[in-house]
Amino acid sequence: MSKIAIYPGTFDPITHGHRDIVLRASQLFDRVIIAVSEHTHKNPAFDINERIALATEVLTEFDRAEVKGFSNLLVDFAREQKANTIIRGLRAVSDLEYEFQLASMNRKLSPNIETIFLMPDEQYTYLSSSIVRQVASLKGDISDFVHPSVAKALTGKHC
Ligand code: COA
Repeated sequence: MSKIAIYPGTFDPITHGHRDIVLRASQLFDRVIIAVSEHTHKNPAFDINERIALATEVLTEFDRAEVKGFSNLLVDFAREQKANTIIRGLRAVSDLEYEFQLASMNRKLSPNIETIFLMPDEQYTYLSSSIVRQVASLKGDISDFVHPSVAKALTGKHC
């Protein structure tokens, strides 16, 4: 039986930190589905199709990774995809409280789906999509944090 994991997030946009988590996950699972959330409490700079397209381009090198959008409950989407593992990145202790809440709710909703946490390389622990967007908007150099196509898309957004 193939091991399928879901790596959900907003990916607004995908960064090297997210890519690092996909790299680690693809060494542990047969398939990793990067699940781009359509509905989010955030007000994304990129629409769902743009976020999916950028993530797909950034992750082409990973044979085991596939990018999909979703708009339903995460555990329902995981079930549809026959995944029984949710992957989340843990960058710092400060992530834990929110992640604990998400994982606990997901376990309550679907006890058969496990959440596992992966740590990105330490050079990415301070990275987030919004901080990258902010640096880009002020014309800072973001080439160390995102794929060139993401950098180009951010330049076009003026966000
Ligand atoms: N590298 C870089 N940045 C990282 C990172 C990493 N390894 N891991 C997390 N981040 C950043 C993200 O860029 C993001 O930054 P931002 O706030 O500046 O945008 C932040 O940490 C966390 O965002 P993300 O991982 O995208 O999570 P989220 O909180 O936006 O998304 C969902 C959470 C989509 C997984 C959750 O809302 C969900 O499951 N929604 C579906 C509906 C549902 O089922 N709800 C009930 C869930 S209990």
